[in-house]
Amino acid sequence: MVTRCNSARFILLFRYMESAEVRKKFLEFFKERGHTILPSASLVPENDSTTLFTGSGMQPLVPYLLGQPHPAGKRLANSQKSFRAEDIDEVGDNRHTTFFEMLGNWSFGDYWKQEQLPWLFEFLTKEIKLKPENLYVTVFSGGKDLAADNESIEIWKKLFATKKIPTEYIEVNTEHEASEKGMQPGQRIFGYGVEKNWWSRAGLPSKMPAGEPGGPDSEVFYDFGTPHDTKFGKKCHPNCDCGRFLEIGNSVFMEYKKKADGTFEKLKQRNVDFGGGLERITAASNNDPDIFHVDVFKKMSEALAVDPNDEEALRKDRIIFDHIRAAVFLIADGVLPSNKGRGYVVRKTLRRAALFSRAAKTDRAWLKKVIQAVISSYRGVYGDIEAAADNILKTISGEFEKFSATLDEGLKEFHKRIASGKITSKDAFDLYQSYGFPWEVTKELAQAAGILLIGMDAGFETEFQKHQDISRTASAGTFKGGLADHSERTTRLHTAHHLLLRALQIVLGPEVKQRGSNITSERLRLDFAYDGKMTDEQKKKVEKIVNDKIKENMPVIRSEMSREEAEKLNAEHEFGQKYPDRVSVYSIGPMSATVQNPEFAEAFSIEFCGGPHVARTGEIGPFKIVKEEAVSAGVRRIRGTLDQG
Ligand code: SER
Repeated sequence: MVTRCNSARFILLFRYMESAEVRKKFLEFFKERGHTILPSASLVPENDSTTLFTGSGMQPLVPYLLGQPHPAGKRLANSQKSFRAEDIDEVGDNRHTTFFEMLGNWSFGDYWKQEQLPWLFEFLTKEIKLKPENLYVTVFSGGKDLAADNESIEIWKKLFATKKIPTEYIEVNTEHEASEKGMQPGQRIFGYGVEKNWWSRAGLPSKMPAGEPGGPDSEVFYDFGTPHDTKFGKKCHPNCDCGRFLEIGNSVFMEYKKKADGTFEKLKQRNVDFGGGLERITAASNNDPDIFHVDVFKKMSEALAVDPNDEEALRKDRIIFDHIRAAVFLIADGVLPSNKGRGYVVRKTLRRAALFSRAAKTDRAWLKKVIQAVISSYRGVYGDIEAAADNILKTISGEFEKFSATLDEGLKEFHKRIASGKITSKDAFDLYQSYGFPWEVTKELAQAAGILLIGMDAGFETEFQKHQDISRTASAGTFKGGLADHSERTTRLHTAHHLLLRALQIVLGPEVKQRGSNITSERLRLDFAYDGKMTDEQKKKVEKIVNDKIKENMPVIRSEMSREEAEKLNAEHEFGQKYPDRVSVYSIGPMSATVQNPEFAEAFSIEFCGGPHVARTGEIGPFKIVKEEAVSAGVRRIRGTLDQG
């Protein structure tokens, strides 16, 4: 688009930058600085069972960050297709998407902060022409046994000084503190703690399993200068979500590895892992906070005649565009709609789009145009999309048709069920089973009807689990293992599994973390991170603790709480799992702890879990360990069964 400001003396031309241009500039910039450009990896991860989809550029590169030499050298860059199913509920505002491209550059034991930060600054200000006064940065202010990143503070100060921009550093540590303090003129470099400026696949340092790499990071935010909205906190600051600031890049200085004793050691090499959202950088280049104004979405909106003044319609159209674009990429990578795992994620994404496109769009010509807008936007960049164009069109149209056939009847049933002013998990499950309504569709409808849904995500999940062999992770974002069925014996073994994990932590150390599980009516299998083989004595001790707790006949209690609350109680979760805002938690023994007083926890075990479980541990009966063996470096597998019954 060209905007013309005409005056008698000069004409100013402002051209909207397209994402293809930003991508090209980024890759060329890093190529000139000795980087090999890699193609994007598939959205379906290879050799990585911890997650359903590729969600960041570093994910396929983990072995090289840990020290394995990469065949293409020590400097790499690419634009990686990324999909984050866990963000599906956020889509609809002007900045969130499930699918995005992540621009990335990496140094495997080669350059370090002194090169990375100046290069990034140069790229953003010279190539993309962002005004340096609109850039704000954050750095790591330190954590338990982890030093503050003072080096990055000094580098940023010098960089801003070259542009004659005053750069006061302010340490805020937490988002809460930042929102209390706000920002003073001149403050530009903000120090936050582990919650905001530490990066690992598992999140916080305390959540990282042994062997996992991570490190402090430094993020760059673009300031759109929009007014602060106090709904998001007292005062604005770079990490505030009100819309004024948008994170456009993250340089992770990955130099640590978690040890089995819970402390950190330096990796063999110091790595740089940079990731920046292509669409977000493009939006910043246009000084336009709405990423749905970026070229690909613009093309899509031409096919759907979006009304920019109708906020609710705009939200729905953004969801349609995001979900259809995501489905195009997923189908091109071979993920077809189904009732399981990845396929179910595509299905629910398309059904949610179909729900929103229903009212005014009974004529489907628009759908073809929207899909073609995506395909043509990526022509020459992602060849696999064009090659799969026919299949993509057929698959998406077919899914819309299938869902339309039951949508009207399902809506009638939905309205009947909410006549009482509420909806139960069972209602939601019935709507799924009879009319194919994914939970996300029912949730949307219920929210639009003003029905309160506290705790429903977990409730529906449990209902779903009871009836269907659909991966729980279809909505949670990850997969692997789980329960084969909900028979009485499997349920008993499931509760034994919780006891076993806790017993392993008591005997081997609190760092033992679950890495996978699989339970049938015959046996349980638990994979856990631990260096070294268990001795016979350790196995005996673990078995005894489990059997003692069974004999104590402890109550097994299900609670629902916010994810933060559960995290503060140190509820166990499997590595890589992403959880919704409300979660179901099982404790063995009463949980008298509150978030304010976690030390009062009396429960023997607390886990994020959808169930089902026995009511009291005595129902399990005698338990025995059958085998303990290695599965991969640093990961052990233990099998156990019930002695009788
Ligand atoms: N791994 C970091 C991220 O995903 C930077 O690439 O944000």
